[in-house]
Amino acid sequence: MSSYHRTKLLLLAGAIFLLASPAGAEEAKHPGLALLRDKCFQCHTDSMWRDARQDARWWESALYRMVGRGGLWTAEEIKLMAEYLGTDFGPNAKPPEPRQ
Ligand code: HEC
Repeated sequence: MSSYHRTKLLLLAGAIFLLASPAGAEEAKHPGLALLRDKCFQCHTDSMWRDARQDARWWESALYRMVGRGGLWTAEEIKLMAEYLGTDFGPNAKPPEPRQ
């Protein structure tokens, strides 16, 4: 391999690492969170629901309401997101931090 190609590969690997690491950190928290970031903000921000404190079943039905409004998600994605929301935005979750 020429050194030119090696440099290009290294740069590419670095860029991928930079792009991937913040998402990777969230992935470690809960895969549902990354999905939410990806899927909810197309239509509204989390101000629509960040004050809600509901269990995973409520969230799951809320997500199916979003599907009725045009969300295109698999049952598996909905399950993961509802699971995450039911924990971090569940009945026992802390009240939301005030926005900075
Ligand atoms: C295709 C567009 C769309 C997407 C994507 C979407 N929503 Fe919504 N959502 C809406 C609309 C439209 C409303 C109703 C807004 C209003 O009442 O003013 C709404 C309202 C809500 C509400 C409050 C009212 C209710 O029916 O419960 C919650 C909670 C909610 N969204 C959660 C979510 C979450 C969580 C996601 C991501 C998984 C999401 N939405 C993604 C369109 C969408």
